[in-house]
Amino acid sequence: MGWPPCSRPLLGVCALISLALLGHILLYDLTVFPRELRSSSQAQETYRARQPGARGPGRRGSPSAAPTRCDLPPASRFDCAPDKPITQEQCEARGCCYVPARPLPPGAQMGQPWCFFPPSYPSYRLENLTTTETGYTATLTRATPTFFPRDIMTLRLDVLLETESRLHFTIKDPNNRRYEVPLETPRVRSRAPSTLYSVEFSEEPFGVVVRRKPAGRVLLNTTVAPLFFADQFLQLSTSLPSQHITGLAEHLGSLMLGTTWTKTTLWNRDVAPAPDVNLYGSHPFYMVLEDGGSAHGVFLLNSNAMDVVLQPSPALSWRSTGGILDVFVFLGPEPKSVVRQYLDVVGYPFMPPYWALGFHLCRWGYSSTAITRQVVENMTRAHFPLDVQWNDLDYMDARRDFTFNKDSFGDFPAMVRALHQGGRRYVMIVDPAISSAGPSGTYRPYDEGLRRGVFITNETGQPLVGKVWPGLTVFPDFTNPEALDWWQDMVAEFHAQVPFDGMWIDMNEPSNFVRGSVDGCPDSDLENPPYVPGVVGGTLRAATICASSHQFLSTHYDLHNLYGLTEALASHRALVKARGTRPFVISRSTFAGHGRYAGHWTGDVWSSWEQLSYSVPEILLFNLLGVPLVGADICGFLGNTSEELCVRWTQLGAFYPFMRNHNDLNSLPQEPYRFSDSAQRAMRKAFTLRYTLLPYLYTLFHGAHVRGEAVARPLFLEFPEDLRTWTVDRQLLWGEALLVTPVLEAGKVEVTGYFPCGTWYNLQTVPVDAFGSLPPLPPVPLPSAIHSKGQWVTLPAPLDSINLHLRAGYIIPMQGPGLTTTESRKQPMALAVALTTGGKAQGELFWDDGESLGVLERGAYTQVIFLAQNNTIVNELVHLSSEGTGLQLRRVMVLGVATAPQNVLSNGIPVSNFTYSPDTETLDIPVSLLMGEPFLISWS
Ligand SMILES: *[C@@H]1O[C@H](CO)[C@@H](O)[C@H](O)[C@H]1NC(C)=O
Ligand SMILES: *[C@@H]1O[C@H](CO)[C@@H](O)[C@H](O)[C@H]1NC(C)=O
Ligand SMILES: *[C@@H]1O[C@H](CO)[C@@H](O)[C@H](O)[C@H]1NC(C)=O
Ligand SMILES: *[C@@H]1O[C@H](CO)[C@@H](O)[C@H](O)[C@H]1NC(C)=O
Ligand SMILES: *[C@@H]1O[C@H](CO)[C@@H](O)[C@H](O)[C@H]1NC(C)=O
Ligand SMILES: *[C@@H]1O[C@H](CO)[C@@H](O)[C@H](O)[C@H]1NC(C)=O
Repeated sequence: MGWPPCSRPLLGVCALISLALLGHILLYDLTVFPRELRSSSQAQETYRARQPGARGPGRRGSPSAAPTRCDLPPASRFDCAPDKPITQEQCEARGCCYVPARPLPPGAQMGQPWCFFPPSYPSYRLENLTTTETGYTATLTRATPTFFPRDIMTLRLDVLLETESRLHFTIKDPNNRRYEVPLETPRVRSRAPSTLYSVEFSEEPFGVVVRRKPAGRVLLNTTVAPLFFADQFLQLSTSLPSQHITGLAEHLGSLMLGTTWTKTTLWNRDVAPAPDVNLYGSHPFYMVLEDGGSAHGVFLLNSNAMDVVLQPSPALSWRSTGGILDVFVFLGPEPKSVVRQYLDVVGYPFMPPYWALGFHLCRWGYSSTAITRQVVENMTRAHFPLDVQWNDLDYMDARRDFTFNKDSFGDFPAMVRALHQGGRRYVMIVDPAISSAGPSGTYRPYDEGLRRGVFITNETGQPLVGKVWPGLTVFPDFTNPEALDWWQDMVAEFHAQVPFDGMWIDMNEPSNFVRGSVDGCPDSDLENPPYVPGVVGGTLRAATICASSHQFLSTHYDLHNLYGLTEALASHRALVKARGTRPFVISRSTFAGHGRYAGHWTGDVWSSWEQLSYSVPEILLFNLLGVPLVGADICGFLGNTSEELCVRWTQLGAFYPFMRNHNDLNSLPQEPYRFSDSAQRAMRKAFTLRYTLLPYLYTLFHGAHVRGEAVARPLFLEFPEDLRTWTVDRQLLWGEALLVTPVLEAGKVEVTGYFPCGTWYNLQTVPVDAFGSLPPLPPVPLPSAIHSKGQWVTLPAPLDSINLHLRAGYIIPMQGPGLTTTESRKQPMALAVALTTGGKAQGELFWDDGESLGVLERGAYTQVIFLAQNNTIVNELVHLSSEGTGLQLRRVMVLGVATAPQNVLSNGIPVSNFTYSPDTETLDIPVSLLMGEPFLISWS
């Protein structure tokens, strides 16, 4: 083979069409840009590549004097062998450069490619660019096929300038309708009159360049590598303007992704969470933090199995196995705005019932109603809050959905009613797979499902049979409208027997104990695609059903990653119908847009310190993805916890938006009451903090629901201009105001956290328990406030406490804790007011009955804003309803009062029994006010 790929003519002429967006096409700028890349660091790499012994780039065996087009800096090389390891001959036959590099260091996931595209590698060419009502359209044509089968040689590009901050483009086959994700996204009729971005196109090779106005920073440049659009392999690469990128759930790791050759695989899978493994959910969305604190986001609306590769140049490559390229770019410019703009497309989170924010307790192994009742009694006796009792598989008859064991759970309905009488709720596990093992006519969900044709079918058109907990099972196809109705009927019929309050949908990747089906899978392109992403098990059917199986909307190959989402939608809808109140669904498997219907728990994590610390970035990431109701199993699920780990996990778990302790069948018990008195005291303190703060947490969920905000937030969301916050993922904020600094390591009684510039008041000094129904807590002698210049601070962190700081400038509503939210909701409220040095603060309370549907539409809610300035605190009644008017305000704690007040007035009436602590600069004002009536508190 006499062909050296890298010795083709050096210079390519590239037409760069620059489109100014305010007018139509203003510029048709023919720019010639040289293809050799030159910078000092790159020149160095080139030099190194020509050291004696190094293989001359592209020219086999002959170190070339002249640089060739294989002289790309290693960081900028795009893999020409994504599908399999190949030899030099095979690489060159693909028209690519072959330059071996050092072997990978141990533990590295991947390294720089040895076989990579030369800049001249054929890509698509852009033709006939025209303007449309909403943007542009063009044809993309490819002259030479790639090394993947069935290239689509002609494509259609549509570019939609949807809003000021949102650009949308799609690349699809104009001649054949391909699978597209059935997610309804906003439709826009005309282009945005002004935009934060400009778009340019490179003609040949085709590429899209998106810049941030006005400075012109390049956010996206898809010209960096050839576009692939074969039937089963689509690749779109882009440069990134910085190394600071987050997103791409679900994976285990730090909040910021590494860009030194990493790969994130999205193919929903039942597996105990570990780094570098495809986990339960797929969210093809990333956010990049740019110099100066701006941020942008990119969402690839594609549900096929995919890899997302990051490399150090920095650049990102989406490699999907099907569908179309449907790309949304969100310009922010604040990271918070990026989150909202993404949620504008995929949907804002559902509003959970109030009780969902209480404590949930579960374990696999509560083998009877008697045991389950004991757990509740033991929690109560030990004075631990418990809002929601759960059961795992144990309640079922032969592990079949919508049944219960008539012996061990004989009084199941009565148990659930008793929980209700105690002001508690009940949730049980429901798996999607339906038992098909029994004789016909004995199991209604199966018989009825068969009759209504709701199950996923195999090659011969019969229900595909796999194996899950009950043995042989079939799998409902939740993309089939008939299946939604069938599911709703099954849920309603079961609810008529057992008045449960929510559903825990597990095993919905969907998980399958046999590969594909009990009959195997056919040998086909869907089962053995030319590109298999880096999935655990090496094949798409590992731990799930055949990719080739048939669903209503398409093949499972296309729809697999949507299984959990569609089941969440079906369950949400069924609960609304069956219960008529706000649904509660927690799902293991997720996809983009999941938060509209359900929450998520992070799956079968080990009881280990490592998993404890990983839970912080996971919770933060899901909050950026619009799934705020998220938590990890407190104390860990698999394996045995230790007392210390369980205490630390309970303290952190008190600040998961979704707080559940859940344990495996074979592990040592880990209910809070199982531990020593001192451990129990520490845990009780964490519970007390959470229950006290629930009105604030609920208000944050309202913000998520109506404004697309995050509940738990990484520091960078609030302080994007402070670079030091960007990588912080061992602390979390609740909303804007509360900073949680947990201990995540064994044996530590100190913790170091980052405190952005400003004053942070230690909330432990607020005697939050004093007005509640729980025993008083011992005072905690901690410094009252941190005045930070933006610095790392080491804090005492004895085992009995978690560091919690209130940010100056914020007012948070609190309420006396109870053993259930039913109780706590009747308690009087308090305000913690954290003054800035200028004496200002503000806050909000959202309140409603906590469970009705449509409260916003009906106006059945109360919304109050609190403002502090100039030694006064007032409330502003934004909206009032009967639910909120009676809420009592008994106490106002003002933090940051530098001089001792002489007089305190509440609505003009002197308050004689206020207290002031000069040490903590805290003014504690007992009041007797109503949240729903205007008040004014002042001191002088
Ligand atoms: C571009 O438009 C011209 C004129 O309408 C047409 O002849 C040509 O086929 C088009 N090219 C593509 C790739 O669609
Ligand atoms: C986009 O990438 C191509 C290929 O690396 C490069 O030649 C071009 O200069 C880039 N465009 C911009 C605007 O950065
Ligand atoms: C509840 O507590 C009682 C008394 O300590 C104990 O015997 C029982 O095993 C506990 N049950 C459970 C399920 O925790
Ligand atoms: C399809 O599933 C049925 C059981 O529902 C089974 O009998 C049949 O063999 C399967 N077909 C294939 C091709 O595996
Ligand atoms: C958990 O502890 C029990 C009892 O000590 C022991 O039998 C079991 O092996 C432990 N499990 C693990 C995973 O270490
Ligand atoms: C602050 O309060 C004092 C005393 O009530 C009043 O005299 C003063 O005008 C107020 N200042 C502002 C800026 O409102």
